Amino acid sequence: MPILKALGDRRSIRYFDPDRTVEDWKIETMLQAARFASCQGNINATEAIVVRKETCEVWDELEECVSGFNVQLMNQSSHLILWLTNLNAWYGRAVDGISSVALSAAVSKYHGWNYEFSMTQTIPRLMSFPTERTEILLRFESGQAAANAIAAGVGLGLGNILVAFGRKPGGVEKVFGLPPHYRFTWGHAVGYPLENPDAGGQRPRLKFEKLFHDNAFGTPLKSDPATEAMLREKGLIQEQAPLPGRIEDITAIAERFGRDPGMLYFPAREVKRLLADEDWDFGPNLRAHAEHVLATQDLPDYPDEMRETFRKLMDEHGIDAAKFLPAE
Ligand SMILES: Cc1cc2nc3c(=O)[nH]c(=O)nc-3n(C[C@H](O)[C@H](O)[C@H](O)COP(=O)(O)O)c2cc1C
Repeated sequence: MPILKALGDRRSIRYFDPDRTVEDWKIETMLQAARFASCQGNINATEAIVVRKETCEVWDELEECVSGFNVQLMNQSSHLILWLTNLNAWYGRAVDGISSVALSAAVSKYHGWNYEFSMTQTIPRLMSFPTERTEILLRFESGQAAANAIAAGVGLGLGNILVAFGRKPGGVEKVFGLPPHYRFTWGHAVGYPLENPDAGGQRPRLKFEKLFHDNAFGTPLKSDPATEAMLREKGLIQEQAPLPGRIEDITAIAERFGRDPGMLYFPAREVKRLLADEDWDFGPNLRAHAEHVLATQDLPDYPDEMRETFRKLMDEHGIDAAKFLPAE
């Protein structure tokens, strides 16, 4: 599958076929894609524990760690990939990592590399970073590795989702007895989609020019209509959710597994405010669905007791909460 199509096809899949096990070679392909993701100084800090639902002895313990909204999807997935970041790679593999890049003729004196300077200045300076800083740097590259694995998995027809393990902080580390210099960076469920693999269309994002800046911060970088048309043709940009049949698809799955078939809804005022927000790139499918929801559903009220909490939380970050809070 061409890379642009695989990236466009990617969705967070939340309904897996519990009766299908992902083949070993596909899991390996994903991990090989992760292994070849770029990593700073070639230090190979990203590792993963592959957990197979069929044979894992600690599945139940892991289930206790996963956030509540991830339990169902985890239990219907085939494998979990638990992405780990080895902080000691930064301190213990910097010399060999850079030496390996040098031996592979990737870097040279052309770029200003020099053995003496590397050993007396560059590498010791990097190795002097506190672990908190190293952690931020290395988790970024673990994210790159996971993204590579996901793209490869999509190319092989697999469903993927990143899953938070927020119910028991430190729980995964304990289940596997991870050494203290390892971070459990993120969980990742893999399986064959039970929902339509298009997951009912591409999920909305903010507008391109709201995210990207042109030469200067605050100057919107414009999307070129010709490029966008080409990307639609190649499959990177796809029809926005929800596609016709989506609600029926997931309702049928909920009924089959005895789960609540209902959807998550926000108050009417909140939905209308969001639809009117210029920053979001909402297409006709989502707008039509929103209008249908507004017209037909019994929508909840804003929980007034949360007003103060949200005001305070936004205030702490210097965000004007006015537009987010209903008039009193
Ligand atoms: C780091 C990360 C963690 C995520 N954790 C969860 C999660 O715990 N549960 C979940 O249902 N979705 C999770 N997601 C998926 C996002 O909610 C999802 O990406 C978003 O809804 C956009 O949908 P899309 O991925 O299909 O484009 C996570 C995504 C990322 C990047």
